[in-house]
Amino acid sequence: MKSLSVALALAAPVQAGLRFGCSSLTIQRLDPVVEPGNNPSAHVHHIVGGNAFNATMTGDVGARATCTTCEMSEDFSNYWTAVLYFKHPTNGSYHRVPVINNAALAPGTKGGMTIYYTQHDFSTDDLKNQPITAFKPGFRMTVGSPTTDTLDKAKGHIGLRYNCLQTTLNRGPEMVDFPNRPCPGGIFTVHHFPACWDGKNLDSPDHQSHMYNTIKYDGFMNAPPCPASHPVRMPQLTYETVWDTTKFNSMWPSGAPNPFVWSFHGTSGYGTHADYMFGWKGDSLQRAMNKSECFYDGCGSITKQVMSTANKCTVPDMVGEETDGWLDHLPGMQA
Ligand SMILES: *[C@@H]1O[C@H](CO)[C@@H](O)[C@H](O)[C@H]1NC(C)=O
Ligand SMILES: *[C@@H]1O[C@H](CO)[C@@H](O)[C@H](O)[C@H]1NC(C)=O
Ligand SMILES: *[C@@H]1O[C@H](CO)[C@@H](O)[C@H](O)[C@H]1NC(C)=O
Repeated sequence: MKSLSVALALAAPVQAGLRFGCSSLTIQRLDPVVEPGNNPSAHVHHIVGGNAFNATMTGDVGARATCTTCEMSEDFSNYWTAVLYFKHPTNGSYHRVPVINNAALAPGTKGGMTIYYTQHDFSTDDLKNQPITAFKPGFRMTVGSPTTDTLDKAKGHIGLRYNCLQTTLNRGPEMVDFPNRPCPGGIFTVHHFPACWDGKNLDSPDHQSHMYNTIKYDGFMNAPPCPASHPVRMPQLTYETVWDTTKFNSMWPSGAPNPFVWSFHGTSGYGTHADYMFGWKGDSLQRAMNKSECFYDGCGSITKQVMSTANKCTVPDMVGEETDGWLDHLPGMQA
């Protein structure tokens, strides 16, 4: 699918699942999935979604949150990834790379992410043969790992990829690593999660083994059936983020190596990863997943809010450290 997916997304009508934007909620060093209770956590995250976000998150998030930065107003889930920084090639200072809008999101979406919950694949649902079971309250998972350090291992993370944007609509080919030259439209990152559940555990010690990935190639293509160990087909969850690297391009000397680093001091792109905390209210996600042909309209039952309302949703700065401006080291890191 790759660069085709934008064209398809814009063409719309018979698509299967939900695609919507969530404005940025907060940028801070918290990670209630991998490091619950730690304030600060190891590295900085970019977080979107509901206002129940906190260092520790337990119980039914959808029942506790009172607002969300997502267009779908019943979605109080939290979605987060590491943050991209620019490392100045000559003086070594770091600057956070801003997040900007993806194409074809509701007007007023600020930075944030594009979230997908697809059914069979990007353009069909096949609900008769393959019903989709929504995540349950308390469910959480991660995909990818900051410790991934080789190209071969990164290739094994199907659906965790980069594009060097020519424009917002012309993404160019998908890559396993950071682009090796300046991108005129910014750097696009995508995180596809596995969609097969063991049917029992809301989490697992590594936050991954309760889920299983059957995608073989591109994240938006239909995945082979779920295995007996993980028999329950869940929505295929995907995040897209657009990092506005353009204002740093003039500081990237021709021929010099990639100057962008992940907030966990990921100087290669291999360690890209993402976290999910389920928080849809009541049975709203299940209702949506039971419907077909409803990509942009809330699947007939999900209420939407205007982004000016979504953008009023905030959480306090619970860590209280500088993550912006020119920094002499990455927050929480030695260098
Ligand atoms: C975060 O959790 C702390 C400790 O439980 C609590 O005092 C605080 O009110 C929570 N913050 C938000 C924004 O929910
Ligand atoms: C590094 O360069 C940037 C851009 O010119 C500048 O703003 C920053 O203060 C510099 N850092 C140091 C430590 O000189
Ligand atoms: C979704 O569909 C399944 C299977 O047809 C049905 O059992 C379930 O009640 C439906 N759930 C909702 C919330 O519509």
